[in-house]
Amino acid sequence: MVTRKDILEVYDLQKWFPVRSGILSLFGEKRFVKAVDKVSFSIEEGDSLCIVGESGCGKTTLARTILRLIEPTGGRVLFRGEDITKKNREEMQKLRLKMQIIFQNPFEVLDPRLPVRTLVGEALSIHNLTEDEDELEKRVLKVLEDVRLIPSDDFAQRYTHELSGGQLQRVCIARSLILKPDLIIADEPVSMLDASIRTEIMNLMEDLKNEYGLTYIFITHDLAQARYIGNHIIVMYLGRIAEMGPMEEVIQNPVHPYTTALVSNVPIPDPDEERYRIMLPGETPTPIDLPPGCRFQPRCQEYGEGCRPEEPELREVAPGHFVSCWR
Ligand SMILES: Nc1ncnc2c1ncn2[C@@H]1O[C@H](COP(=O)(O)OP(=O)(O)OP(=O)(O)O)[C@@H](O)[C@H]1O
Ligand code: SF4
Ligand SMILES: [Mg+2]
Repeated sequence: MVTRKDILEVYDLQKWFPVRSGILSLFGEKRFVKAVDKVSFSIEEGDSLCIVGESGCGKTTLARTILRLIEPTGGRVLFRGEDITKKNREEMQKLRLKMQIIFQNPFEVLDPRLPVRTLVGEALSIHNLTEDEDELEKRVLKVLEDVRLIPSDDFAQRYTHELSGGQLQRVCIARSLILKPDLIIADEPVSMLDASIRTEIMNLMEDLKNEYGLTYIFITHDLAQARYIGNHIIVMYLGRIAEMGPMEEVIQNPVHPYTTALVSNVPIPDPDEERYRIMLPGETPTPIDLPPGCRFQPRCQEYGEGCRPEEPELREVAPGHFVSCWR
């Protein structure tokens, strides 16, 4: 029997940003935004893990910290069993070819002065990964076909202003794929696109996952999107994991009051099914000076007997299904 392996393991990962303004910092007291605060999880090869949560819960910071685009404050990240938090710059650059990130806004990533051919082939040229110009051109055209920018030789000569938002995101996907990565972290890759294009891009990503043998971390604030593309889910709240597990298990049997609220707001296919939508009171606070205990408590409608004064740790409530809630 073939057993699948963890491609990525994350242990107690932390990213705290120092706060430079405010009355306390004037008196020399150090304060931090605890954007990622002791996050641990792992992903098996071939999985699509979705990370969901409200704006500001730390999804992007987690992604950037995993890839060491920003340095972690603490914790460890293992890629194929190797601790990448200990790698030097050169080793890290090599490893990043295997771990690619796709950002939310293609306009910010793509240089408008360069044709698609150069944008897509850039990394191969920089790292001298092709024999000659002919091979480079072949690989660029092939990957453009793979992301369905056809005819590829026509798209190769275009500039960003000649492309739609969906086509630009395909170019970004092609830029990552050309390096034949093992893991792709996609940070809200469709949230800037028209609703009609979103499903198209998600379907494309699903096809490419099989064609290229990829593993995905897919970040979104939209639970319906997560359910569409992912087989595992992490629900984050204020820099921590509130709940995680197999996608359908978590969606069908949410345990954490935060997940329960999110799930209650997902549009469902059967309009006759009665649903009670849970509206959370208040806005998500910023993760500075968090009170001791459960960080969801100020907004929790189930707070009561059983909620202890300490921060709840993740515990397993069903096989592979973990929740950080005392009740
Ligand atoms: N460079 C930084 N310096 C200080 N604070 C930061 C920095 N980057 C992020 N933060 C803070 O860290 C927290 C998490 O931000 P992050 O961008 O990771 O959230 P997110 O879940 O990706 O949000 P969104 O859904 O809006 O993209 C926020 O409170 C944010 O203000
Ligand atoms: S520990 Fe208590 S306050 Fe925190 S989420 Fe669970 S029920 Fe709510
Ligand atoms: Mg973000």
